[in-house]
Amino acid sequence: MSVVSALPFLKPIHMRTPVSPGRQRRHTLPASEFRCLNTEDAISVFEIEREAFISVSGECPLYLDEVRHFLTLCPELSLGWFVEGRLVAFIIGSLWDQDRLTTEALTLHKPHGTTVHIHVLAVHRTFRQQGKGSILMWRYLQYLRCLPYVRRAVLMCEDFLVPFYQKSGFKVQGPCEITVGPLTFIEMQYPVRGHAFMRRNSGC
Ligand SMILES: CC(C)(COP(=O)(O)OP(=O)(O)OC[C@H]1O[C@@H](n2cnc3c(N)ncnc32)[C@H](O)[C@@H]1OP(=O)(O)O)[C@@H](O)C(=O)NCCC(=O)NCCS
Repeated sequence: MSVVSALPFLKPIHMRTPVSPGRQRRHTLPASEFRCLNTEDAISVFEIEREAFISVSGECPLYLDEVRHFLTLCPELSLGWFVEGRLVAFIIGSLWDQDRLTTEALTLHKPHGTTVHIHVLAVHRTFRQQGKGSILMWRYLQYLRCLPYVRRAVLMCEDFLVPFYQKSGFKVQGPCEITVGPLTFIEMQYPVRGHAFMRRNSGC
């Protein structure tokens, strides 16, 4: 027996059994996938932020080193939505341990805190106004219910986005003490704990 016929993987191409198209292995990426982010996603995150914030106001919630910082310290508090392998929307959070947000909350992760501070939610420009921001937020809040140490989620946003977050169940707490240049913010919160029935049935 020749070496070629004994080792099927060395067979010349013309001798291989043809594989029907239906049986060919597919190499396509999942159409839609939700997962926590990691530091390898930081550049994709920052590209979306650059367009969404820096091109508009010159500022953004998290610069690249801060994205890496939080995705190193608490990747489990992030969530990305990938369409065919490409990041289209994301949330990055960290833990906070006070009733209201202070400037320190912008850069710190308090591992013993019970409040998730949502630093940023952003949707890639070409995917906006399709419900993705609302769906991602809904999934994130459901996910937080499964983290036993989380009592509530808080965020700060500009006035015009208050109705958007209210639709996701956030309530206004009042003006936020943090300002960024000329920008002022409203602080909003969402109670993650306290719905015992919903928790029992949440599939955590
Ligand atoms: C804000 C954002 C996350 C919303 O995500 P989205 O997928 O476009 O939103 P959805 O399709 O789920 O919901 C659309 C709703 O968002 C609200 N909304 C979105 N952008 C808005 C804006 N610039 N001004 C006011 N409302 C806005 C509206 O309530 C809209 O409802 P409508 O269609 O009835 O007008 C997205 O537009 C984005 O990434 N913007 C740039 C970054 C940003 O501002 N992030 C928030 C930081 S706090």
